[in-house]
Amino acid sequence: MGKDIRTITNPYEYNSHKLDKNSFVGRSQNIRDFYGLIDDFNENGKIPNVIVTGEKSIGKSSLIHQFSKYIQSARFFVFNRELSGNISEYQLVKEIFDKVYTEVAPVDKTCLSSYQQEIWFTLTEAFENHKSSFMDREIRFATSYWKHAEGKGGDLDYNTLLADFRKIVGALKEVGYKGVAIFIDEFQELASNPRLISLLRQLTEDMDDFLVVGAGLPVVLSNNHFDKFRRTSKVQSLVGLSREVASENWTTR
Ligand SMILES: Nc1ncnc2c1ncn2[C@@H]1O[C@H](COP(=O)(O)OP(=O)(O)OP(=O)(O)O)[C@@H](O)[C@H]1O
Ligand SMILES: [Mg+2]
Repeated sequence: MGKDIRTITNPYEYNSHKLDKNSFVGRSQNIRDFYGLIDDFNENGKIPNVIVTGEKSIGKSSLIHQFSKYIQSARFFVFNRELSGNISEYQLVKEIFDKVYTEVAPVDKTCLSSYQQEIWFTLTEAFENHKSSFMDREIRFATSYWKHAEGKGGDLDYNTLLADFRKIVGALKEVGYKGVAIFIDEFQELASNPRLISLLRQLTEDMDDFLVVGAGLPVVLSNNHFDKFRRTSKVQSLVGLSREVASENWTTR
């Protein structure tokens, strides 16, 4: 990975109780399937979304935690978010871009330059206007977010958002990342924001190197707000670990 990338603690990383690789057992077919998607991506440059579903406590979060670590080692930029209740599209996009601007050291050009970083944090953290003109601002979402925070924002325009994501992903690729992976745990919570489901689906359809991995209760397979998203995804439905595999867990501890 390029020397421009520095890793610092992500303020939004949820404090996970999930297992490390040593105590994770089973699910080998699920993991092989996920590795296969990355192999395919390395060949053809495209990666689909993934949905992991199953009943409560079946092991969804533990499994996507393994996926997340693996795709990170395959040089994707990774954002992890566990939902608890409703989240707006403004909030989610803000968190994703924050993580990029926090973790990736500024570069000379592109939307990751120190000037663009300054614009980003001035508008979205300090909530102050920035002396730049609207045209100087590479990431249009910064202005939308600022207006929204002042109560003046309307709906996010999809094409503007797509242009922003394309710039961010393109800039990340220039510093050595291969793509961007967004992990959303408790994915069923998005049922209360169908517009966000639709924005994520459109973005991932329009960008080959950008994927969402969602983990949630089986309602994501039946709730019709998820229908189109599901059609763009590889679905992994988890069943309980067998007695043999589960007992491995005890013998290896
Ligand atoms: N593959 C595994 N190997 C060993 N232990 C596991 C595995 N999967 C799950 N567990 C254990 O089961 C517990 C529940 O798993 P996890 O939190 O991943 O389930 P979940 O499906 O995400 O649950 P919820 O529906 O509550 O979000 C974990 O804390 C972990 O101890
Ligand atoms: Mg879970």
